[in-house]
Amino acid sequence: MNYENILSESTNGITTITINRPTKLNALNKATIEELHNAFKVANIDATTKVIILTGSGTKAFVAGADISEFADFNVENGGKLAAKGQEILFDFVENLETPVIAAVNGFALGGGLELAMSAHFRVASDNAKMGLPETSLGVIPGYGGTQRLPQLIGKGRAMELVMTAGMLDAPTALDYGLVNHVVTQEELLPLAEKIASKIKRNSSVAIGKAIKAINANYKDGINGFNIEIEEFGACFGTADFKEGTSAFLEKRKADFKGE
Ligand code: COA
Repeated sequence: MNYENILSESTNGITTITINRPTKLNALNKATIEELHNAFKVANIDATTKVIILTGSGTKAFVAGADISEFADFNVENGGKLAAKGQEILFDFVENLETPVIAAVNGFALGGGLELAMSAHFRVASDNAKMGLPETSLGVIPGYGGTQRLPQLIGKGRAMELVMTAGMLDAPTALDYGLVNHVVTQEELLPLAEKIASKIKRNSSVAIGKAIKAINANYKDGINGFNIEIEEFGACFGTADFKEGTSAFLEKRKADFKGE
């Protein structure tokens, strides 16, 4: 599929989606959000895609935020709709995909950029990355899930301070806070994400999809994550991957998962 604002390419079971508006530091305008929705949807239903890597083009930015020029003249109603639609089609959508999504944060991840990275299942970063939610400096608050996911990842006090100061975390601090799992040089970033993806690919994609659902359940209001775990654990016993995984172990051979 041809996109204007993103690139999507698949090799060896890994689909890499790159936000590609480098002259605007990959800021998320409406069209980019819609294209991302499409690309994630396509990758998620593609049985050959086992892992999705999300990154930004250029060496400066992952995503420098929602495109400020698009919402500067919005009113109360438009503002609410912007957040609701974005959360539905991109941020919640990514978080709830069955296919694992790794954000490779290659520079500034600010506002909607950090919110997007936080919607991914986990993050790796380059040593020049800078992360923050600077919305209060624009007279607004994070609207793509940032007030919820940031405290989940780094704790309430640190999230409060970062949002109130509109500050930026450097990569070592983000690593120390648990916001990203690994920090490497820019050159090493995509190879690292691909190496982790290769390890994930060896395992049952059906089981991984169920694990994502169960882990996410811990963070959803009104849902008992232990019950979801029990349901999903039980459901695994009806899958071909479970039969293959346990048979392979007992036969002392490598499992050949079909993702079924
Ligand atoms: N929305 C729209 N355009 C953006 C943008 C955003 N969030 N972030 C950067 N851009 C654009 C700039 O307007 C500029 O475009 P121009 O060349 O047509 O003027 C271009 O990207 C380069 O950005 P610039 O500000 O010149 O780069 P810099 O190196 O001086 O500063 C940042 C980098 C990230 C510190 C700065 O761009 C910035 O503060 N961006 C906004 C971050 C933000 O508040 N995000 C939250 C939005 S809710």
